[in-house]
Amino acid sequence: MLKRTHNCGQLRIEDAGNSVTLAGWVQSYRDHGNLVFFDLRDREGLTQLVFNPENYPEAHNIARTTRTEWVIAVKGKVQPRGEGLENPKLQTGQIEIVVEEMQILNQSKTPPFEVDNADKTAEETRLVNRYIDLRRPEMQNKLKVRHRVTKLARDYFDKLGFWEIETPMLAKSTPEGARDFLVPSRLIKNSFYALPQSPQLFKQILMVSGVDKYFQIVRCFRDEDPRADRQAEFTQIDVEASFVDSNDIIGIHENLIVKIWKEILGKHIVAPMRRITHKDAMDNYGNDRPDLRFEMKLKDISDIAKQSSFKVFTSTVEKGGVVKGLCATGGGKYSRSDIEKTLTTFVGDYGAKGLAWFKVKQEDGKLILASSIAKFFDAEQLDKIIERFGAKDGDLLLFVADKEVTANKALAPLRCRLGKELKLYDEKKFEFVWVVDFPMFEWNEDEKRYDSLHHPFTAAVPEDLEKLETNPADIRSQAYDIVVNGSEIGGGSIRIHNPKIQEKVFELLNISKEQAAQQFGFFLKALEYGAPPHGGIALGLDRMVMLLTETENIRDVIAFPKTQRGQCLMTNAPSKVDQKQLDELNIRIQK
Ligand code: AMO
Ligand code: AMP
Repeated sequence: MLKRTHNCGQLRIEDAGNSVTLAGWVQSYRDHGNLVFFDLRDREGLTQLVFNPENYPEAHNIARTTRTEWVIAVKGKVQPRGEGLENPKLQTGQIEIVVEEMQILNQSKTPPFEVDNADKTAEETRLVNRYIDLRRPEMQNKLKVRHRVTKLARDYFDKLGFWEIETPMLAKSTPEGARDFLVPSRLIKNSFYALPQSPQLFKQILMVSGVDKYFQIVRCFRDEDPRADRQAEFTQIDVEASFVDSNDIIGIHENLIVKIWKEILGKHIVAPMRRITHKDAMDNYGNDRPDLRFEMKLKDISDIAKQSSFKVFTSTVEKGGVVKGLCATGGGKYSRSDIEKTLTTFVGDYGAKGLAWFKVKQEDGKLILASSIAKFFDAEQLDKIIERFGAKDGDLLLFVADKEVTANKALAPLRCRLGKELKLYDEKKFEFVWVVDFPMFEWNEDEKRYDSLHHPFTAAVPEDLEKLETNPADIRSQAYDIVVNGSEIGGGSIRIHNPKIQEKVFELLNISKEQAAQQFGFFLKALEYGAPPHGGIALGLDRMVMLLTETENIRDVIAFPKTQRGQCLMTNAPSKVDQKQLDELNIRIQK
């Protein structure tokens, strides 16, 4: 076999005259009767090959039998391309190889889609034939970026004295909020392991063990419905450290993020990053992962709205709801049907019952609000609305009247949609923000009990702890989420290290003593043997790589991902298994 001397992205004009050997896949094949041209591809790039029948008839003959995606090796000389034939889009675009000798290393069936045309291929076809899809330069780049980020993270934490420690994949279910994937045990009949939703309890126990600084690049499993930025199986850069406060964890991770963005994108991210309280995020942006590339804050106009005679508004406020909205800069260009059909349906999907609107116009040197509902407001009320938003000629004001939760749920995505459609920000920008001061608990109206906003191991802000008995809803936790451009790429907290407080929290969450003992007795026991104060965080690796490679599809950054239905289309997992396997596990399938 010809052994390669260079890769397909390597040769430059300076190499002209040198004898080289390349190997790779035939990306394209152009037979000009006399001369035959190939583009030869490997993961590093493309190089043009020329086969000349007069000088090297044997190689030319073999070339003419070759088809796309065949695997070949060629030996030849580097020569500058003819005048005007350079391809500035290719790194190797100034040269070509005059092939003297060629070997076919393997043939290929005609691929189900062309590698350089995969963009126009249905994702399903690409997933079924993932090995071909991954040959695309974009996909190779995503694999490479992902590798580089994990390598950077490993080196970074190693330098800081963190140890990478593996924790079990066959574990016991821990209460992190999502559904567990279960694995039946063969040896202990009728018992199940759970695949870890995260290494949360193990990493905390490692702190009790005196490990001090732990990290792990680790697969996590959550049986939730996949979404554009959610997979059932995903990867965290998981960290825990002892004797730290939240500023320590935040600082360490800001520096890591700065490093990653610098090395991968050459972008300078400013640290310390800004912080926003959970309350401000909810009030101004409607959710806890605000996209801060643009302003367009939400505002509550309930005080003005309740004085109007617009029934929808007044009755909502009377019932304890709010009238909340936003001022879409330049949104006046939306037609009435854009607003009343497209945008109203959009917010409707998030639970809003309607979308009230006003167009801001300049008339006789004065700003006015034009709308079919303007008649329900007097001039002073309309002026106050304009003033609240600082609205300008050509803007569009949009309002949802509902319970605050519902209004936020609808307005947050509306804000993001309008920001994008109206091009209110530079898409290349990254706006990082830490969301802090989360409430520790959230009242669950359906189940009439509190839920943890993060997870039940999160510590309270010390001065709020006294409200544990009296007013749990008012307790802030020492949790922090890192958000960039509207995407939550990480979250963590300082933990409870006092077993008494941990027990109290379980009580509040309506987890009975017996349940707690059965589910995480091992953990409560560990806390009783000298648990140091500790805290940590997990960054979502997949979501970071999505941002770094500019894709909105999480499947693009995972070599072998699952579909929305949790299937691997290449291997056909999940699949039926043999009766014998089921018998060994004592499992009977219900008909
Ligand atoms: P959390 O559940 O917030 O925290 O997860 C941390 C980060 O992981 C990413 N992430 C996901 N990415 C892709 N698909 C998913 N289904 C998915 N779920 C989460 C997000 C998220 O911010 N044990 C805690 C961390 C800690 O407290 O230290 C935890 O798992 O980017
Ligand atoms: P209607 O009274 O249903 O004809 O609605 C008049 C206008 O108010 C329409 O533009 C509706 O979209 C809007 N509207 C109705 N309900 C709400 C609501 N809950 N919040 C905001 N706007 C609403």
